[in-house]
Amino acid sequence: MKIKKAVIPVGGLGTRFLPYTKVIPKEMLPIWDIPIIQFIIEEAINSGIDSILFVTSKEKYSIEDYFDRNFYLEYFLNKNKDKEKLDILNKIPQNFKIYSVRQKEARGLGDAILHAEDFISDDYFAVFLPDDLIFSKKPVIKQMIEVLEKYRKPVLGVERVPWKMVDAYGIIKPRMIAKRIFEIEDIVEKPKKNKAFSNLGVVGRYILPGNIFSYIKKTKPGVKGEIQITDSLRILMKEQGILAYEFEGIRCDTGNKYDYLLAILTYANMKKDLKNKIKKDIKKIFKIKI
Ligand code: G1P
Repeated sequence: MKIKKAVIPVGGLGTRFLPYTKVIPKEMLPIWDIPIIQFIIEEAINSGIDSILFVTSKEKYSIEDYFDRNFYLEYFLNKNKDKEKLDILNKIPQNFKIYSVRQKEARGLGDAILHAEDFISDDYFAVFLPDDLIFSKKPVIKQMIEVLEKYRKPVLGVERVPWKMVDAYGIIKPRMIAKRIFEIEDIVEKPKKNKAFSNLGVVGRYILPGNIFSYIKKTKPGVKGEIQITDSLRILMKEQGILAYEFEGIRCDTGNKYDYLLAILTYANMKKDLKNKIKKDIKKIFKIKI
């Protein structure tokens, strides 16, 4: 089963990154040398996706511009025979179609996904939340597509989160059916620790069915007074069943300043040319004896 389309909500104001995000989308923040959104697009393309819908808002146009060509810059670098810089530009993925739709009001993730209704005509599509960056050998959405192919049901990416953090996630009640694969028996958005079914939290990767929109329309405002996709999924789960997949990979939350810093260090640790240098410099900064 092929998944060709993905929806990426990028409408959030990114207030945790103010003042920076007054003019720059948080999705454009760099992880060392690449903006967050490029990792997400690479994961999508490497999973076979070729059309992306950005659900955007004001001040987010630089995301679309980033994946467009800049002929003047190319002309300038060509004129100066600056092959190294041209190579950097050429590494930005081009082989996908970009669509965008504006979410005029921040009414929640369910509402953001509902904006994709006219874009989706397929049985299944993917949703990526760019706050969740996942480093893995096989792209996580590809891993999830394999689960879909086997079981023909919607799939949510999940991971064990610290118990004290369960109130930041959609939390599932799992019934294991195979290694890393669970039938979801219940799901709740941001529960208190004593109300959580488990510590298996939904991270920002979803494979949703094309009929999800009718469930979103039935969903009443939930946590924070917003239309939560978790609440729509709960209705869908009862009628169609949903699976959760505990993916293989290292997830970094880039949605707050501290975890963002850790994401950069995690990435640096995976790069041969940076790893040792950073280690040495960190020891120096923190005055750790070697
Ligand atoms: C959203 C979802 C939540 C999910 C989380 C993953 O929450 O509503 O179910 O667990 O993303 O990052 P947010 O982080 O937007 O509050």
